[in-house]
Amino acid sequence: MAQLIDGKQLSNQVLQEVASEVERLKAEHDVEPTLAVVLVGEDPASQVYVRNKVKRAKEAGMGSIEHRLGTATTQGDLNQLIEQLNHDPRVHGILVQLPLPSHLDEEEVIAAINPAKDVDGFHPLNVGALAAGQASLVPCTPQGCMIMLRQVHPDLSGKHAVVVGRSNIVGKPMAALLLQANCTVTIAHSRTRDIASLCRNADIVVAAAGRRELVDADWIKPGATVIDVGINAVEVEGKRKLVGDVAFEAVAEKAGAITPVPGGVGPMTIACLLLNTTRAARHQLA
Ligand code: GUN
Repeated sequence: MAQLIDGKQLSNQVLQEVASEVERLKAEHDVEPTLAVVLVGEDPASQVYVRNKVKRAKEAGMGSIEHRLGTATTQGDLNQLIEQLNHDPRVHGILVQLPLPSHLDEEEVIAAINPAKDVDGFHPLNVGALAAGQASLVPCTPQGCMIMLRQVHPDLSGKHAVVVGRSNIVGKPMAALLLQANCTVTIAHSRTRDIASLCRNADIVVAAAGRRELVDADWIKPGATVIDVGINAVEVEGKRKLVGDVAFEAVAEKAGAITPVPGGVGPMTIACLLLNTTRAARHQLA
């Protein structure tokens, strides 16, 4: 049975560091690191994510500001709100929860955020900095995955990592971080040929395809490390349940280490968001 990489426990360690940094910023600089979260529309999953982000921010002693806008919000309204948050000295981090309702242009919204307050790391300037290997605000989910991987592999150098999925939020930045850590990186996606045999060659598989239990045991080399980014809501015997992009039970018997869903990558993402917010606040000290 694989070693379980406990995201709950690890995220608590990160959150403790965040809370200490918040205390220092308050005591030494009279600054309360503050995250502004913007949610447009009624997507139920997004509502849960946003609620959790705000709750954890409060627990870490940070300030948080929630803006909930109706589905009918226009691009102009949203841009205007972002402009206001960009210029508000009390706000250090801005997060616009994705996906946005389909009439809104995500690219335009992301580009409107002040890169220094872009705690998601989605602004083209931060994406470019990451690609160039420069320190910047790094997307939260891949950052959390790296912390989990380091638990198993303090030195990632020379490992072959396969990232399944090529989203801007996870797959692409994940590949950049693994490359920076000297891994040999393959990005697989829906058009990849023979994805199973690619994965069978991997020391590390990061599953971020958004497809329930896509990665099965016969994709996995014995002893490999498997990071499951998927969060898929399913009904099992009338009960709602979360499953990942990895067939957990089967893969856990073959892998060397694996992250559970829930209690794996999810809590790490939120912890890294708050970590980014304290980093942004420190950078913004006058
Ligand atoms: N939707 C799913 N994941 C994320 C994330 O990391 N940030 C934002 N803003 N929206 C998301």
